[in-house]
Amino acid sequence: PYLNAQAAAGTAGEQVVEVTGYQWRWEIAPAEVRVGTPVLFRVRSGDVNHGFGIYHTDLRLVAQVQSMPGYTNTLRHTFDRAGTYRILCMEYCGTAHHGMISDLRVLER
Ligand code: CUA
Repeated sequence: PYLNAQAAAGTAGEQVVEVTGYQWRWEIAPAEVRVGTPVLFRVRSGDVNHGFGIYHTDLRLVAQVQSMPGYTNTLRHTFDRAGTYRILCMEYCGTAHHGMISDLRVLER
């Protein structure tokens, strides 16, 4: 899922979601996407290394990418099921690492 900067610009019809990790929270904008339309996540960090992990409601890992300072990683994923997905940090980043939890709502098309 790692792509170069040109590919990261996004193509027509993609949903672009900007993600920034901080000790200890996620900024995700927008936090709602649609089933069936490719999503381009542009992921970076405002401080240290984090791991951006998207989990289905059954806690199955759906997709992941590193959240790094000074660099934008891209991740493309098309959701096939609606629901409220959970965002967890996958790399130890300090005392409240376990509290880096957020939601991503995936709506019916
Ligand atoms: Cu951020 Cu662990």
